[in-house]
Amino acid sequence: MPEVESTKFDKSHPYHRKPETERRPFFSCWELQSYYGESYVVQNISFDIREGEVLALLGRNGAGKTSTLRTIARTDSPSLKYGEIWLDHQPIHEMTSYQAAQKGIQLVPEDRRIIGGLSVEENLKLAQIEEPHGWSFERIYESFPRLAERRKQEAVTLSGGEQQMLAVARALARDLKLLMLDEPYEGLAPVIREEIARIVVDIRDLGITTIIVEQDAMAVLQYSDRAVILDSGEIAFSGSAAEVRDNKQLREQYLAV
Ligand SMILES: Nc1ncnc2c1ncn2[C@@H]1O[C@H](COP(=O)(O)OP(=O)(O)O)[C@@H](O)[C@H]1O
Ligand SMILES: [Mg+2]
Repeated sequence: MPEVESTKFDKSHPYHRKPETERRPFFSCWELQSYYGESYVVQNISFDIREGEVLALLGRNGAGKTSTLRTIARTDSPSLKYGEIWLDHQPIHEMTSYQAAQKGIQLVPEDRRIIGGLSVEENLKLAQIEEPHGWSFERIYESFPRLAERRKQEAVTLSGGEQQMLAVARALARDLKLLMLDEPYEGLAPVIREEIARIVVDIRDLGITTIIVEQDAMAVLQYSDRAVILDSGEIAFSGSAAEVRDNKQLREQYLAV
């Protein structure tokens, strides 16, 4: 991994300056401001990610993590009122959620959105209903043998961990440039969490740029390159994952650990 420039969030720092067109990082968001109605929830969020990096987006419950991911995915709620989002030289801020997904932004939401009444394979087929496609079914089943075993099974009957795998597999089945995982460990037993963690590490090793949101910061900091901590909708810290891992005071101040 490339050496990461790290700093407490400081807008005057060059790392947080609006990048020039040619020098734009693989992913960047700049001064994102988004609202649920009148309620201002994502307050001037800026960060960028190099291709292949994993960024841990951390913060206490209600800090604005989910809202930030939804803003990047261009959902209507919260609605983006100001700011820019660039992915691989594409202006995501000018797009609808549908167009952003077409350009490779894939959000795996907390509730996983497994489609009832459909088998595992039908769920995957639905992800590939339109071009461009990502991974083939063969490749997915090779990486997720448990899904291969259960390909004919109705997806809602899968265990929580398997449903999480299916949600990630569905994202991989599409043309993926930025994977966003919202609390993928939520509600899962420790052994299943370890399995999901192994999948995230595999995804990182494949060079897929990822944002991972998690309450249990230490669990994701082990394999993340970068970390951004949110507090009340604003950035409280932006730097390397190692800095957060090594800084107990920082963790105590902003995280649940
Ligand atoms: N649909 C919504 N409508 C209005 N306010 C919301 C909605 N969803 C979340 N919020 C508020 O936005 C803030 C950030 O929430 P959220 O992004 O879900 O935080 P996190 O994911 O870090 O727990 C919280 O104050 C929360 O109450
Ligand atoms: Mg959340």
